[in-house]
Amino acid sequence: MQKIFLLLSLLPLILLANDSDEHKEGKKIFDRVCASCHAELMDKKTALKTFKTLKAPPMNEVAMQLKTNIVIKDEDADVHRAVVIAFIKDYIKYPGLMKTMCHPGAVDRFGVMPSQKSVLSEEEINKIATWMYDRYEGVEF
Ligand code: HEC
Repeated sequence: MQKIFLLLSLLPLILLANDSDEHKEGKKIFDRVCASCHAELMDKKTALKTFKTLKAPPMNEVAMQLKTNIVIKDEDADVHRAVVIAFIKDYIKYPGLMKTMCHPGAVDRFGVMPSQKSVLSEEEINKIATWMYDRYEGVEF
């Protein structure tokens, strides 16, 4: 019983430690580079209402779109995460009409995303892509 109590009292610390510096840096990169076009969090109703003023789909919509469209055969969560992150990393550098999983109506409205290759280092691309996956775990649109 005592052991359980100790574990429970340590849990917040463990969880806090998991919100790693890497994630904090990911969020900073989001604010600096991506937030000028992508809203960090927006519900569908607000997105539809403000559609005309948006520059890109909200990031929670993008994350959900990628996570549900990219399906792997053995349903291994770690493999799925790795594949989605790899897609995001590639898309940041080499976006394109042939690759986008964005809703066709949204692409018509926004156009294709400009490459962010020249503004980010490989390390920063890693961090923002990982942040993007983890930030929106369990977040709906
Ligand atoms: C100049 C505006 C702009 C900036 C800055 C921008 N994006 Fe985008 N992004 C878009 C638009 C527009 C789309 C939707 C069209 C498309 O899929 O290319 C998009 C789509 C995406 C997609 C979805 C691709 C898909 O297949 O659905 C990802 C992933 C993405 N952006 C990540 C990022 C990240 C990460 C950053 C910051 C490093 C970023 N974007 C910065 C405009 C932008």
